[in-house]
Amino acid sequence: MARKLKSLTRRLTGRGKPPPKKRRQRADRAHRMRVGGYWDRVGKLQLDFLVAQGLKPTDRFLDVGCGALRAGVHLVEYLDPGNYYGVDIDEDLLTAGYTLELSPEQRLKLPRDHLRRTDRFDADFGVDFDQAIATSLFTHVSLNHIRLCLYRVASQMKVGGKFFVTFREAPSEFPLDGVIKTKKGAKHNERDPYWYWRSDLEWAAGFSPWEFRYIGDWGHPRNQRMVELTRTP
Ligand SMILES: C[S@@+](CC[C@H](N)C(=O)[O-])C[C@H]1O[C@@H](n2cnc3c(N)ncnc32)[C@H](O)[C@@H]1O
Repeated sequence: MARKLKSLTRRLTGRGKPPPKKRRQRADRAHRMRVGGYWDRVGKLQLDFLVAQGLKPTDRFLDVGCGALRAGVHLVEYLDPGNYYGVDIDEDLLTAGYTLELSPEQRLKLPRDHLRRTDRFDADFGVDFDQAIATSLFTHVSLNHIRLCLYRVASQMKVGGKFFVTFREAPSEFPLDGVIKTKKGAKHNERDPYWYWRSDLEWAAGFSPWEFRYIGDWGHPRNQRMVELTRTP
């Protein structure tokens, strides 16, 4: 009751609102929260991981579910001009990433049409990719989407190319209808954010020419696990 009264007073008097400049700054950063926060940390984590896996500036790179370019800002900087491509279902995130996160110099390195809105993982840009990543995408899509994503991305990769995908892992002995209790409430595996067994991902990858390797911990702050998929002939 006291809280309701306080919020009503704040709305009527405008008192307690952050100043306009702060409000604008917050709106400019909203896309960062929409992709899960940890903006600097998870962006840099992805670059460092990929470089450790052998990514070179001359490689062509695909970011699947690239969002507002949390990793993209680092990858555009690292890769040779024109070598970064990204797809996402949300045009607003792509636009926010391109206009608010990239510097003018970085925008010169990334043609705008290398960022594509697609809801079916259409990554046919007319080039073959050496490496790709999907970070925190499979936590938000169904197993059928994952199967489709792996199928369509496989068709755009070079033989020997690597696709790194993260997922929220369920313990192998966890019951199919189990519910995970967390500080923020109950988590159901059939609802977004999804969690999967390792064998689910292996099954989904089995429809396309991929070799599956579980990497596991890669330093993600929310404990998402990593899988490496290598494109086979
Ligand atoms: C948690 S965010 C992660 C974004 C980015 N990978 C990063 O590390 O910042 C998940 C992203 O997946 C995108 N997404 C969700 N469903 C998708 C789909 N079916 N196809 C493509 N992107 C999708 C969302 O729009 C969002 O940008």
